[in-house]
Amino acid sequence: MKKTWRWGLCVLLVICLVIGASVILEREKQVSFVSLLPSDKVLNIAHRGASGHAPEHTLIAYDLAEKMNADYLEIDLHMTADHQLVAIHDEDVGRTTNGVGFVSDLTLAELKELDAGTWFNQAYPELANPDFIGVTIPTLAEIFELFGLDSDYYIELKDPDDEMIDAFLTVLNKYDLLEADKVIIQSFSQKALTNIHAQYDEIPLIQLLSKSKTKSANYKKIRQYAAGVGLPFQTLDKAFIEKIQGNGLHVHAFTVNETEDMERLIDWGIDGIFTNYPDRLADVLW
Ligand code: G3P
Ligand code: CA
Repeated sequence: MKKTWRWGLCVLLVICLVIGASVILEREKQVSFVSLLPSDKVLNIAHRGASGHAPEHTLIAYDLAEKMNADYLEIDLHMTADHQLVAIHDEDVGRTTNGVGFVSDLTLAELKELDAGTWFNQAYPELANPDFIGVTIPTLAEIFELFGLDSDYYIELKDPDDEMIDAFLTVLNKYDLLEADKVIIQSFSQKALTNIHAQYDEIPLIQLLSKSKTKSANYKKIRQYAAGVGLPFQTLDKAFIEKIQGNGLHVHAFTVNETEDMERLIDWGIDGIFTNYPDRLADVLW
């Protein structure tokens, strides 16, 4: 009987050792890509350009963001019917142009006919500027032609499929932006991010999460391909930021426009902030 007990204990010990070793090995296997992101300051990310001051996703809004000392130009991308990448947030052109229809149903030539600035003057008469009238939706290539390697880009793929990802990576390579470490890529699509990661594991990726997903997300899984996460700022507090950072991820908050919210998030240790007012954030960070 005694002998049986001893054998039993030995077997149990071996099982515990095996489980313990595999847990340690699994932890070691957990890579971290957080070092791909700048970590010396809170990133000032100009959300759709300086979109609190000028019509979003126009060259004017991006230029203003640069002048306001933004660290990154945030760009949302969609693909046209003729497979061109253009900077626009909505899938439908109705809100930010004088046109109608889905970007994916319109050709670049058709999109270029649209006025992407006048809506802003009408919506915000106190900020209206005649320079905004008649500005067009920019292509990704036009943005890179204008700002080149002088800017850093934080680009979101909206509704990405493999074709869009391939086209996107081709444009980034054409303008030498990957080699120069000038781009962060963000998406709500985990599939798109893991596809990119499989091709280029040195590009910093940000997994965006909607309000309903922040608590249930598997951050250990996300860290296998992403350097950080982008979350609605309303879902964050100090403990939650630290918990995510403890999982080897940076935390970027969107979209933060009020000074008090910026100050509170910075106090809590946030790594980056998307804002329509990069000038306001620059003042807070000064
Ligand atoms: O990309 C971060 C944030 O911009 C996500 O929200 O809807 O403004 O693209 P949205
Ligand atoms: Ca975005």
